[in-house]
Amino acid sequence: MDWAEHVDEDAERDLVRWRRHLHQHPELSFEEFETTAYVSAMLDEWQIPYDRPLPTGVVGHLRGRNPGPTVAVRCDMDALPIEEQNTFDFKSGVPGKMHACGHDGHTSILLGLARTLSEMRDEIHGEIRLVFQPAEEVLESGARHMIEAGAVDGVDAVIGLHLFSTLDTGRISLAGGPIMAAADVFELTIAGSGGHGAYPHQTIDPLMVAAGLVGQLQTLVSRRVSPLEPAVVTVGSLHAGTAPNVIPGSAFLSGTVRTLSESLREQLERELRRMSELFAQAHGARVEIKYQKGNPVVQNDVQLAGFLRPAAAATVGERSVVNMAPTMGAEDFAYYGSVAPSVFAFVGAGSRESESDFPHHHPRFTVDERALGIGLRFFLEAVERTSSGQAELPT
Ligand code: NI
Repeated sequence: MDWAEHVDEDAERDLVRWRRHLHQHPELSFEEFETTAYVSAMLDEWQIPYDRPLPTGVVGHLRGRNPGPTVAVRCDMDALPIEEQNTFDFKSGVPGKMHACGHDGHTSILLGLARTLSEMRDEIHGEIRLVFQPAEEVLESGARHMIEAGAVDGVDAVIGLHLFSTLDTGRISLAGGPIMAAADVFELTIAGSGGHGAYPHQTIDPLMVAAGLVGQLQTLVSRRVSPLEPAVVTVGSLHAGTAPNVIPGSAFLSGTVRTLSESLREQLERELRRMSELFAQAHGARVEIKYQKGNPVVQNDVQLAGFLRPAAAATVGERSVVNMAPTMGAEDFAYYGSVAPSVFAFVGAGSRESESDFPHHHPRFTVDERALGIGLRFFLEAVERTSSGQAELPT
């Protein structure tokens, strides 16, 4: 019997029930205490041993009765500080917090995988490690913390998925190579010398430097990067001044840099620092630069993606397996790529009729719940290929 055939209507109903429970009880990054307890209680019920390497987050160890590889399957569990505007009866019960990225669905799918596999230990070769990860949504990255705490020590491959509202329900994207961007954050504090708005010549105007820099920084992309290579520099905040007739003493701006290659990432950091310093200097101001590295590029291992492609085809049909163009969004799943070959699939969860085509992080975001069963079947098809002893993992 195909592993995915274990998913029947009852199992799909449970996925929906769990997802709705989680949706009603959203918790922010590193605060997923109730979610952690919810997951742990189920693993107890299904007699899956687990550990808790961090205060929030759970790592289940499903060991088969036969020798084989260790394959990690990962979900993220955190919600966002957004006031939900949906009106369905399972909408967020917590003011100002909402599952607006589908991580409630991811957690539900991984629970479904845990339960299904817990009844199939005779067939499993090696270990399937169930990684319920906290804090995907923040720069501090739950993935990085889980890795440092040993959650994926000794794994031979890591598989993950994201429900995606801009991909139609019934499709799966499984491209090899870079699929999501490295995302860094910069903060520039420009120090000038303030004074009266009527006597600018007696001041060093940091606001003018900041405003100029907003435009100048765009030339990093338009003049310093090949037009064939994706890059984004966005200034997302700019603050200065208090009154129309006062030149302030300082100005502040912050933004994000997105790239799909590590070498370009290094180049843009270098050039952003240089441009900020020299531009400020040209106007007699000084700049303090804080540049924080965020998630690296999500690199789907080409061989593993090819190896798992039949899993996606078995789930949704060959013609519904697509290669979405890379996105400049970021994901901390990227960190797992430094531990073992990894693959991150996009599972379509958007449809007009279920009103699930709002963008991620929108106050009306929701997922098409039919995608939960698809996600679970895909994971089962995938681990059947890696962990049933029928084939060797590509190396
Ligand atoms: Ni997300």
